[in-house]
Amino acid sequence: MIDTLRHPTEDDHTRVMAVMDEWWGGLGGESGSVYRATLLPRLYFQHFTDTSYVLDLSGGRLGAFLVGFVSQSDPGVGYIHFVGVSPALRRTGVGGRLYRRFFTDVAARGVRRVHSITGVANRQSLAFHTRLGFTLVPGDTSLDGLPVHTNYDGPGRDALKFVKHLP
Ligand SMILES: CC(C)(COP(=O)(O)OP(=O)(O)OC[C@H]1O[C@@H](n2cnc3c(N)ncnc32)[C@H](O)[C@@H]1OP(=O)(O)O)[C@@H](O)C(=O)NCCC(=O)NCCS
Repeated sequence: MIDTLRHPTEDDHTRVMAVMDEWWGGLGGESGSVYRATLLPRLYFQHFTDTSYVLDLSGGRLGAFLVGFVSQSDPGVGYIHFVGVSPALRRTGVGGRLYRRFFTDVAARGVRRVHSITGVANRQSLAFHTRLGFTLVPGDTSLDGLPVHTNYDGPGRDALKFVKHLP
C-alpha cells in the first residue's frame, strides 16, 4: 500500500472530525463524542501544523493523524495532544511511526521530554504509550493501581498523564 505522511492543512480538520466517532469506538457515549470534538478545533489545523501529521492512504482515505506542538512556556517540552489510527491499520506500527516522527522533529528544535494525557478508561492508549517508552506521572489517587489525576480537565475529567524523556 502506498501512503503519504505529511503535515496537515486546514482542510484536514473536516476529515478528522468525520472519523472521530468511529475511530474512538464511541468511547464515553454522546458526551465523550462532543468532548473529543471540542478538544480538537480547527485552530490546530491552522497554527500547529509543522509538528502535526496526517497519513493519507492510496485512494485518498485518511489513515491516521497526530496533533502535537512544542510548549511555548517551556521549549524543552513537546506535547502530543491527539492521535488516531484507522481501526483497519491498528497494530501495524502506524501510531508508533507518527510518534517517532514527532520525537525526531521536536528533538531537532530542542525538546527533551514529551508529555501526553489520556482518559482513565482508554486502556489501549495506556498500552500504546507504555510500549513507546512513556511512564506515568504520579497522580493524586489511584485506580486499578494506576496513578490518576482527578478532575484534571474539569469536574469528572480524570486523566492519566504520560512523560517520555528523549535521548
Ligand atoms: C492508540 C492508537 C493510536 C495506537 O495506534 P497503533 O497504530 O495501533 O499502534 P502501533 O501499531 O504503533 O502499536 C505499538 C505498540 O503499542 C501497543 N499497543 C497498541 N495498541 C494496543 C492495544 N489496543 N492493546 C495493547 N497494546 C497495544 C503494542 O505493544 C504495540 O506493539 P505490537 O503491536 O507490536 O504489540 C490506536 O489504537 C488508536 O487510534 N486508538 C483510538 C484513538 C485513541 O485512543 N488515541 C489515543 C488517545 S488521544
